[in-house]
Amino acid sequence: MNILVIGGAGYIGSHIVYELNDAGHQVTILDNFATGLRENVDARATLVEGDMQDLDLLDRLLGSGQGNDGGQANSKADSSSLAGGIAGSDSDSHSTGKFDSVFHFAALKAAGESMEKPGLYSQANIIATINLLNTMMRHDIKNFVFSSSAATYGSPEYLPIDENHPQEPINYYGYTKLVIEQTMAWYSQLKGLRYAALRYFNAAGYDVQGRITGKEQNPANLLPIVMEVAAGTRAKMQVFGSDYPTRDGTCIRDYIHVNDLATAHVKAMEYLASENRDLTLNLATGEGYTVLEVIKEAEKVSGRPISHDITGRRPGDPAELVAASGQAFETIGWKASHSDLKQLVESMWNVYK
Ligand code: UFG
Repeated sequence: MNILVIGGAGYIGSHIVYELNDAGHQVTILDNFATGLRENVDARATLVEGDMQDLDLLDRLLGSGQGNDGGQANSKADSSSLAGGIAGSDSDSHSTGKFDSVFHFAALKAAGESMEKPGLYSQANIIATINLLNTMMRHDIKNFVFSSSAATYGSPEYLPIDENHPQEPINYYGYTKLVIEQTMAWYSQLKGLRYAALRYFNAAGYDVQGRITGKEQNPANLLPIVMEVAAGTRAKMQVFGSDYPTRDGTCIRDYIHVNDLATAHVKAMEYLASENRDLTLNLATGEGYTVLEVIKEAEKVSGRPISHDITGRRPGDPAELVAASGQAFETIGWKASHSDLKQLVESMWNVYK
């Protein structure tokens, strides 16, 4: 299939691109390299450099499937030309795009930061994604694989969290993902969109084949920060809160390896194409680890001490997020196979050491 991966040079996107190419698909990447890294771009993919918020570029790309057409492949778009507003699609005429499916990874993802900069998150995560959906609809591209999040659930009312758990986000980031999930459900009903809402729990790890080695810059997530301390590029880290109602007082998360996320995405896309039904799935292992357990495992794997201070809670952090992950197995035959904590930390240490 001919696939557009927006944000295909980013941390998760780059892993998905490798998986799609391995599975024999034709891949075009649209990335503005705001956080993506050139060294992580799979050479088998066609690269279009530009910003998804450049609506003219998006329209041309989706209208032509140009990434695999020659056309403007590898063209440089002016990523500063951000178009404001939301592009409507209802009255526009339709053309036939050549992409069979669109994957979207070009979003902001730091739950803590979203509480300080909600305007930034609404623009990048809500407005840009609705513009994308409208552009897809205008060009009759119906299949969409969307990175949603466990953050849409908020504080668990019960554990493990299944897909029917109420969605009441407690950080603005989670809200941005929920708005898009709800919009996709409406567009499915009203416009024939076929979507997979993949609710990631905590993505971590690096390609087990060692093909992706560019490290995320200025990370806000636990594991890359732990790795930077182990590697000596960061002197010390903070543990945000030790008074949560958990076994050691620190937050529990369900960490999922990016290679496992990648296989799930390919299966989800194939499901949309073959079953013609929408999908909403948790992507997780069902196992939770505390912040201190993660630090301990990283000390063991790296053989280095990880200097940390216990500080106050970070706003917007639920105490525990652990998934019921069986639905993904039942519908798309997927379950995690690289995600036990040791394997996950080892795959990261191979990059950071
Ligand atoms: N943490 C620290 N110190 C740090 C960084 C994180 O103690 O320097 C703690 C956090 O407080 C939290 C845990 O480590 O308890 C995990 O934090 P992350 O920032 O790594 O991840 P979050 O759980 O906040 O969010 C992540 C992704 C979201 C996604 C969510 C789903 O960033 O995009 O997982 O569970 F939605």
